[in-house]
Amino acid sequence: MKVITSIEEMQTISKSIKRDGKTIGFVPTMGYLHEGHLSLVRASKKDCDITVVSIFVNPIQFGPKEDLSKYPRDFERDKNMLEKEGVDYIFYPKVQEMYHSDFSSTIIVEGVTKNLCGASRPGHFRGVTTVVGKLFNIVMPDKAYFGEKDFQQLVTIKKMVRDLNFPVEIVGMPIVREDDGLAMSSRNSYLSEEERKSALCLYKSILLAKDMIKSGIKDVKLIIKGIEELVNNTPNTRIDYIKICDPETLEYIEEGDIDGKKLLALAVFVGSTRLIDNVILEG
Ligand code: PAF
Repeated sequence: MKVITSIEEMQTISKSIKRDGKTIGFVPTMGYLHEGHLSLVRASKKDCDITVVSIFVNPIQFGPKEDLSKYPRDFERDKNMLEKEGVDYIFYPKVQEMYHSDFSSTIIVEGVTKNLCGASRPGHFRGVTTVVGKLFNIVMPDKAYFGEKDFQQLVTIKKMVRDLNFPVEIVGMPIVREDDGLAMSSRNSYLSEEERKSALCLYKSILLAKDMIKSGIKDVKLIIKGIEELVNNTPNTRIDYIKICDPETLEYIEEGDIDGKKLLALAVFVGSTRLIDNVILEG
C-alpha cells in the first residue's frame, strides 16, 4: 500500500492504472475509520481492480461553529486498518495541497441540498460537493462508494454526477450499526458513557416508526410526534430535525399517511455531538 500526498502524483498513478485497462474503486473519507468505512472498502475491493481511499478532513464543509479543529484524527491507526484490508493507495493530501491560497471555485447542487442537514448546516453540502468533485478529478475512479447514513450526501453526490457528467458510478452502501443499533460514526468517539446510552434514541426512533407502521399507524404527524416524545424523554438530547420526506427529492411530507417508500431522517444533538440516522419506511 502506498500513501500519496501530492495531487499530481495521484493523477499520474490513476492515469497509468487506466492505461493498463484496470478499474479504480474509490472510498472518500475524513479518516478515523470504522466498520462502516471498511464495508465500503470491501465493496470496492470486490468490484474493482485497484482501491484508493482518501483521508482528508475537508475544512470547507464545516461551519464556523462546528467541530473542525477537534474532529478525530489518527492517521497511523487508519493506515494499519487499510493495510489489513489490502487497499492499494491512500490519498492523504494536506489542506494547502487541496486548496491553494486563492481558491475560489465551488460546486453547488441545488434542490436536494435545501432541506434536512442543508437547512441546519448552511454551506455544508457546497463544501462536500466541491471536495468530492475535486477528488473525482484527482483519483479518476470508475466507481465511488458512499454510506447511506449520510443519505442526503449520497443523493446530492448522485445528482452532481448526473448533472455534471462525472464519468463515475456512485454506489450507496447500507448503514453499519453497533450491536445495540447505534449507527457507526467517527463522531461517536465524542460521546461520554452517559451520552452513548442516550445516543441510542436515534435507533429507537427508527424502530418506533417501523412498529407504528406495522400496527397500522401511518399518519406522518403521529409518527413524528411519537419520535419527538421518545427523544425529548431521553436525557442529554436536543432535536435538530425529525422529518419524513421523499427519498429522491428530499421534499418534506408534512401530513397524510405514509404511502410507498419514504425516508425518515433525524438529527439529534446528544450533549454537544450532533448525530444523524435514517431509514426507508414503507407504508
Ligand atoms: O462522508 C464524509 O466523510 C465526507 O463528507 C466526504 C464524502 C469524505 C467528503 O469530505
